[in-house]
Amino acid sequence: MMHNKEKMKLAYAELTAPKRIILTPGPVEVDPRVLRAMGTPILGQFDPAFTAIMNEVMDMLRQVFQTKNHWAYPVDGTSRSGLEAVLCSILEPGDRVMVPIYGRFGHLFAEICERYGAEVHTIECPWGEVFEPGHVIAEMKKIKPKVLAMVHGETSTGRMQPLAEIGRACREQDVLFVVDAVASIGGADVRTDEWYIDALVAGTQKCLSVPAGMAPITYNSRIEKIVLARKKVERGIATDEDRAYPRSMRPITSNYFDLGMLQDYWSPRRLNHHTEATSMIYALREGLRLVLDEGLGARFSRHKLHEKALIEGLLAMGLSLFGDPVHKLPCVTCVNIPDGTDGESVRHMLLEEFGIEIASSFGPLHGKIWRIGTMGYGCRKDNVLALLGGLEAVLIRHGVKVNRGEGLQAALDVYQSEKTKSIVLK
Ligand SMILES: Cc1ncc(COP(=O)(O)O)c(C=O)c1O
Repeated sequence: MMHNKEKMKLAYAELTAPKRIILTPGPVEVDPRVLRAMGTPILGQFDPAFTAIMNEVMDMLRQVFQTKNHWAYPVDGTSRSGLEAVLCSILEPGDRVMVPIYGRFGHLFAEICERYGAEVHTIECPWGEVFEPGHVIAEMKKIKPKVLAMVHGETSTGRMQPLAEIGRACREQDVLFVVDAVASIGGADVRTDEWYIDALVAGTQKCLSVPAGMAPITYNSRIEKIVLARKKVERGIATDEDRAYPRSMRPITSNYFDLGMLQDYWSPRRLNHHTEATSMIYALREGLRLVLDEGLGARFSRHKLHEKALIEGLLAMGLSLFGDPVHKLPCVTCVNIPDGTDGESVRHMLLEEFGIEIASSFGPLHGKIWRIGTMGYGCRKDNVLALLGGLEAVLIRHGVKVNRGEGLQAALDVYQSEKTKSIVLK
């Protein structure tokens, strides 16, 4: 009889992953330099060598978030952990929240607020559009919420909501403005301070090209004031001073997402809360370093360039784009699935034959559009050209009438005119 250990050896080969070109709206290809940073030896979470890295991460986040806020650090968990941490730390049961919804992730905001007992007021606009800021402001004046929660880059519809006017109105009305910039951070301009955003939540697995598992957040003193009024340190580590703390509001109901305890860990006090995800901090640090090294402006222009090449290619092929073009999210391009075409079959064939992954969408858009993500490290010429070539071939196999060869030529035209422009500029 074979020994159990030998059987196990036969059953499990060494881990391998097929080569893929991931062009979904996340998770996307991780920058190899980030993967390399993740292999850095683990340090203890209170080792000064590690806490110095934590401080660097805070500093880099401030730059990427374009903020002077002191608090800028990651919550351990996927992006929604950041949304939940911010909301549960500022909301008490019965608090009024307004959520303008223009896609799936607006619904997520509303759902999280409901679960924490808030009185949630939603307004909705058709998926594929964004709100006229004046409309949001007028509704906000009627509803008079404590918090207005809004998505900046809505990946389910590929739209980007202008926030500046809404943020200013929130500040004038003394409403806390909480923003989901999970998809836009690192791929489009996000101006935390200039747009009067009180709390902002980002994601790692999209335009930062870091694996999923952390939610970088930032918040200002208006949020911190509430957090401190609810401060409660975990019983097993609280000091007499913590126990005597003059709390004026009820404590935050979540332990894991308590921003008061998280900020104690991310401050010189380094009060123990969770065990830090060391390798993810390394990954985030490297991801942020690469963003800053490229430069925010250059990075946003790169996303716009590849978006343009992709769009021109898709249109030249004979496909049409979904949604309001003026408010398109640069890193997500939504394509109408041609009538009578099995969108899932196209996606499967693209993956099987070309190793390229694109996404479908959710709710009312499921089966109607494909979503193509050009995010962070994956936002490159070779990926755009591979997608256009592969998609054309797969569509022909599915009997769709396309303008053969024209998609790639149109994208090449964009790249070549860009090259000419940069030579002229030099
Ligand atoms: C705009 C937006 N918000 C929030 C989320 C939730 O993120 P996660 O799946 O990392 O929790 C996503 C994920 O795709 C997203 O695109």
